Amino acid sequence: MTSILEVKDVDVTFRPSGLPATRAVIGASLALRQGTSLALVGESGSGKTTLARAVLGLIPRDSGEIKVFGDALPKNPREVPLAMRRRMQPLFQDPGASLDPMWRVGDLLMEAMEVTGSVEQAQYDAEISIWMNALGLDRDLLTRRAHELSGGQKQRMALARALVTGAKLLVLDEPLTALDPPAQRAASELLLNLKRAHGISSLLVSHDIGLVRFLADDVAVMYRGRIVESGCTEDVLAKPKHPYTSLLLASVLPTQPLAARGRLASLPEDHVTEQPLAGCAFAPRCLHAIAKCHIDTPSLSAVPSGAGHAVACPVVV
Ligand SMILES: Nc1ncnc2c1ncn2[C@@H]1O[C@H](COP(=O)(O)OP(=O)(O)O)[C@@H](O)[C@H]1O
Ligand SMILES: [Mg+2]
Repeated sequence: MTSILEVKDVDVTFRPSGLPATRAVIGASLALRQGTSLALVGESGSGKTTLARAVLGLIPRDSGEIKVFGDALPKNPREVPLAMRRRMQPLFQDPGASLDPMWRVGDLLMEAMEVTGSVEQAQYDAEISIWMNALGLDRDLLTRRAHELSGGQKQRMALARALVTGAKLLVLDEPLTALDPPAQRAASELLLNLKRAHGISSLLVSHDIGLVRFLADDVAVMYRGRIVESGCTEDVLAKPKHPYTSLLLASVLPTQPLAARGRLASLPEDHVTEQPLAGCAFAPRCLHAIAKCHIDTPSLSAVPSGAGHAVACPVVV
């Protein structure tokens, strides 16, 4: 299957003036197969949003290559061609943020098609109907202003706005966080349907393991800017190899054995913010760390038993 998104050795550093630099993404590589969903998981501050924003061409990267639908993404966000932006659309945590509250939503959809030139003007209405239907939105809503919509409706409308532009790749950053549980359930099913029925691929940033299990075919686990484990969702969630992945899953999955949960939960909290000069960034918190973990930075290696499963840990491989 062809990859529609390829990320190779990407580094992103923030250099706020007067403050220390943050290496938010370090040597990240991943590939998203057409018509599938790849999840980025990891605790807050691990670099998920930064990597997603670099993929969208919204922030510059220091180094590394990103290919979207086979085309190289320029390093400088100002040089990203409109045609490239049109094919990948973001959906951020706060769905309202991308919708001007005072605009009628029908006009917002039309404006998106006009700006991107995704379809002929004569097709506007048909295109809107296709996506309103697919997203379970009533056409009556088109005359409402964005601020008159519920959270779930706003989110679906933000999705509709992305899809009428002809986007085939969605970058979803914590898409369910702002929704209540019934709307979360509905949105998860919608996203699955967009993938299955419409072949829409997605890069999903989420700390919601339930959503990841439901939607994502593959998963990459990030810790302190690095991808420390990756593979198909089933393998990684059922047979996590990296001690950090186990910790992450134990802290959210009630199905984990109680004994393991108690043991892992007693690990020290992560208070260190800067990258270690050498070694694995997780080593100071790791129950399995050996001397070399504090010296060498492990790179991803294939797990012998799992097809495509890779882990950056010398102890477990
Ligand atoms: N605009 C920014 N300026 C400076 N530092 C930033 C900026 N955005 C993110 N960071 C830092 O980069 C790191 C990764 O952040 P982020 O990608 O938002 O993580 P996540 O999405 O996994 O929670 C954090 O240490 C964060 O403080
Ligand atoms: Mg984030």
